[in-house]
Amino acid sequence: MRAAYGIVILCAVLGIAAAGCNSGDKAASAPAASGPAVATAPAGAPSAQAVAEAEKIFSTRCFTCHGADGKGDGPGSVGLTPRPRDFADAQWQASVSDEYIEKIIKYGGSAVGKSPMMPPNPDLVAKPEIVAALRAHVRSFAGK
Ligand code: HEC
Repeated sequence: MRAAYGIVILCAVLGIAAAGCNSGDKAASAPAASGPAVATAPAGAPSAQAVAEAEKIFSTRCFTCHGADGKGDGPGSVGLTPRPRDFADAQWQASVSDEYIEKIIKYGGSAVGKSPMMPPNPDLVAKPEIVAALRAHVRSFAGK
């Protein structure tokens, strides 16, 4: 067991794509990839770790105004004008690009001509995978 584990680590470190390494990698990463979001995710989607981090950020930071379900009814939304919209709105979802969503998340409402009450998240600017996962999270509310 110990030797096999070492080989997987070695393969991961060296980036070797040999068949033996692949099967080892799959076995090692299988538990992490068992979540529903990952199972349905298209190729090139954010990693399971990025998805988990984004969900954590949404439920602690974005939730304040946008609500846990993206309805725009978080406790901090009271008194905001305009209030955050319902992310389930299919028409809105279709009208905005992924780039727009990622830009407003990173640089805030004022960067895209929206309310400055949508705050920037400067700590995420250097973390594109987390931003992409947050954008995917916003997209996931469509039609809900
Ligand atoms: C302090 C309250 C607040 C927080 C926290 C907040 N937002 Fe917002 N957000 C807003 C408001 C208000 C708007 C609407 C701006 C407008 O319509 O002018 C908005 C708009 C948006 C939009 C664009 C919607 C549109 O109408 O085009 C997205 C996407 C978004 N927020 C995502 C997020 C994400 C993701 C987070 C967490 C990283 C977050 N927001 C945190 C208040 C907030």
